[in-house]
Amino acid sequence: MKKSEIIDYLKDDHPSSLTELYARADGVRKEYMGDGILLRGIVEFSSFCKNTCSYCGLNKNNTHLDRFRLTKEQILESVGRIAGARIKTVVLQSGEDDEISAGWLAAVVKDIKARYDMAITLSVGERPRADYQCWRDAGADRYLLKIETANPALYAALHPQMDFNNRLRCLEDVRACGYQVGCGAIVGLKDQTIDDIAGDIVFFSENNFDMIGIGPFIPHAATVLGGEQKGGVALTIKAVALTRIATGTAHLPATTALGSVGEKDYRIDALKAGANVLMPNFTPKAFKKRYEIYPGKRCVDEDSEHCVGCMQALAASIGRHIDYSRGDALKTIVSVLR
Ligand code: 5AD
Repeated sequence: MKKSEIIDYLKDDHPSSLTELYARADGVRKEYMGDGILLRGIVEFSSFCKNTCSYCGLNKNNTHLDRFRLTKEQILESVGRIAGARIKTVVLQSGEDDEISAGWLAAVVKDIKARYDMAITLSVGERPRADYQCWRDAGADRYLLKIETANPALYAALHPQMDFNNRLRCLEDVRACGYQVGCGAIVGLKDQTIDDIAGDIVFFSENNFDMIGIGPFIPHAATVLGGEQKGGVALTIKAVALTRIATGTAHLPATTALGSVGEKDYRIDALKAGANVLMPNFTPKAFKKRYEIYPGKRCVDEDSEHCVGCMQALAASIGRHIDYSRGDALKTIVSVLR
């Protein structure tokens, strides 16, 4: 898809255009990914963060947050619940927490691999290449690092003290270390234009990512963007649909942010417009609320096992089913075969 065509779709809110776009994306999803919805169990293991991203509730200037860091035992207990739910991917996510040493996280990865037949995705932010290599050597399979926005000037405005080029360096490093690579963006950020969102989709397709998570911006009161408008649901779902058409075989989650942005659970709409993944939260219940990236996060009071039951019902309601396989990157598999 050409950028100009993406822009035209993003600007077009005519109901018949939306129906056509979603049907086209759903067709591409069905052709490449089938009807199974993959599950990734997420464990948010540290809410400490050294960064000051202006949209995120975990930013270090938020002094109202009661921060936590799970022990290795607590993480393993959570992973055990994921395995018990038959899910074969765990996503270990945290803020950018320098107290987490490469060696400690490598030991966690090794212990998980020794106990469970499971893929491990790490999502702990920007690190030196040596750390990525250390975790890869320990057995980690995938790395998730969203670009958030692919416009360098907007990126700089939203991420004081961070460097767009370092983020690109990290994405290159994780790929070079042999990870399956996940990226993603936020839709509806302050000063973000339609052209920017189209640029994000072009960025995703040019970089051949294995997974791409796209969610709407949800303002958090304890951040500098707390008074801004939330991101549009229709715009976010259009971005998911266009990303499906542009990337073909990338895994696309119906993000928790889409499930949390309004009364309705808009993850269903994303699943019908190109998405093929859901991410149930297996952070221990006592800590779920305290990982407050944005307010109103869906299901923070639920038991994780209950969420998996809801996801089965959700899949069935749209004529799909939960796929309990690992769901490795199709892009990587295709390129290895080539
Ligand atoms: N609204 C929506 N998504 C957000 N994220 C962080 N803050 C917000 C917010 N206020 C997303 C980012 C990050 C992921 C963990 O959560 O994309 O990568």
